[in-house]
Amino acid sequence: MKTAKKILFWILVVFALIQFVPIDRTNQPIDHKVNFVDIKKTPPKIAGLLKSACYDCHSNETVYPKYAYIAPISWSVKSHVNDGRSRLNFSIWGTYNKELKENMLDNAMEALHHKTMPMPGYIVYHKEANLSEAERTLLSQYFEQMLKTKTY
Ligand code: HEC
Repeated sequence: MKTAKKILFWILVVFALIQFVPIDRTNQPIDHKVNFVDIKKTPPKIAGLLKSACYDCHSNETVYPKYAYIAPISWSVKSHVNDGRSRLNFSIWGTYNKELKENMLDNAMEALHHKTMPMPGYIVYHKEANLSEAERTLLSQYFEQMLKTKTY
């Protein structure tokens, strides 16, 4: 019993201490000259879907949920945001070259079709990101049209 109490005590101490590990949650400012929805004049409906389903990890407009402030969950959230952004960041779309844009549109269609994006774990806490079949198709068709007409 004594040992169990000691272990619990130290777990609590460590939990309390890790809350002090700093995490940078500041978003970079949006440059409208390279921001996807601005340069593509994305229709509001599509832009809304992107915002509610993809932006938290693929833009500089991340809105961090409350649980993202509690370590170690916050570390996992931040790592998904960093990883997501480093691969695809709609806020800096205009800086991508032709190949990268084509690749991303293709991969995004694939991800929507196979339901690998938005990340399944994320949908559990973000009901608005749980896209319907129709919404997935709408988003996918928008990307496909862009790819076909080379208007990326
Ligand atoms: C909770 C965070 C999160 C959300 C929300 C999210 N993604 Fe992702 N996305 C990631 C992460 C992390 C990766 C990289 C790891 C992987 O591929 O699983 C990724 C990878 C991708 C890739 C592959 C990029 C490459 O390198 O080929 C595409 C495309 C993509 N996401 C599109 C989307 C789209 C479209 C949405 C919205 C419908 C979305 N994602 C929503 C986190 C997210």
